[in-house]
Amino acid sequence: MKPIIEFKNVFLAFGDNPVLKGLDLQIQEGETITIIGGSGSGKSVTLKLLLGVLSPDSGSIYYQGKNVTTMGEKDLIAMRKELGVLFQGSALFDSLTVQENVAYPLREHFDYSEKELDRIVAQKLAVVGLPKIEEMFPSDLSGGMKKRVGLARAIATDPKVILYDEPTTGLDPTNTQRINRLILQMQKTLKVTSIVVTHDMESAFQVSNRLALLKEGKICFVGTVDEAKSSKDETVRDFIEGRMETVEPLKIMEAR
Ligand SMILES: Nc1ncnc2c1ncn2[C@@H]1O[C@H](COP(=O)(O)OP(=O)(O)O)[C@@H](O)[C@H]1O
Ligand SMILES: [Mg+2]
Repeated sequence: MKPIIEFKNVFLAFGDNPVLKGLDLQIQEGETITIIGGSGSGKSVTLKLLLGVLSPDSGSIYYQGKNVTTMGEKDLIAMRKELGVLFQGSALFDSLTVQENVAYPLREHFDYSEKELDRIVAQKLAVVGLPKIEEMFPSDLSGGMKKRVGLARAIATDPKVILYDEPTTGLDPTNTQRINRLILQMQKTLKVTSIVVTHDMESAFQVSNRLALLKEGKICFVGTVDEAKSSKDETVRDFIEGRMETVEPLKIMEAR
């Protein structure tokens, strides 16, 4: 089967920091694939390359057979309409209500009436288990609720693909479970293709069909959860058994 998304020999450096050094990855329609890797390994960068927010130094990224790297503005916009993104840290607009946040991508891409917008927003909030909170502001919400509103916003446009950047980072176990269940639910009921980026192995095991391990700029392992769990590869074992550096340097600085 032809992959819905494909990274081919992608290189990207920031100054003298080579982040991706020949990344190859094929993603099949309908699967949930989780990219795991230490902090700073290039996970978020990989998602930004797919969105066309960043450009690679060389190599190609394909979405439904179209080269994202050489796409014109019109095709890029059309593609982004089909991609729902739950950003790292939710990234809600603090000055906008929940209603306005969830409606944002709808206003950006479609021409709905206010009444239709209200209906769609209410429906998406119900999907994430947060009905009737339209008039609240992000500052009124807990971290877990913010992630769920972020997810309601990500699915507002009925995307074909959902990108989740660290969806459970910073959440307590109850909210982590809630998000994991929602990721599974999106896959089952909406039949979306999902790319999850995380360093939370427990979540990765729960939600994924396949895992891809990003290390030193390349995907060094890709396989099912069972294949990962039974792998003898030392790098894979290190990740699975938690012998990896997960603290982001920036967070250490902030904590000081
Ligand atoms: N816009 C940017 N400019 C310069 N360096 C960047 C930029 N975005 C990311 N980087 C660097 O690229 C590396 C990978 O970042 P990132 O993909 O965010 O890591 P993570 O795997 O933790 O998501 C890091 O060293 C980061 O500092
Ligand atoms: Mg990241």
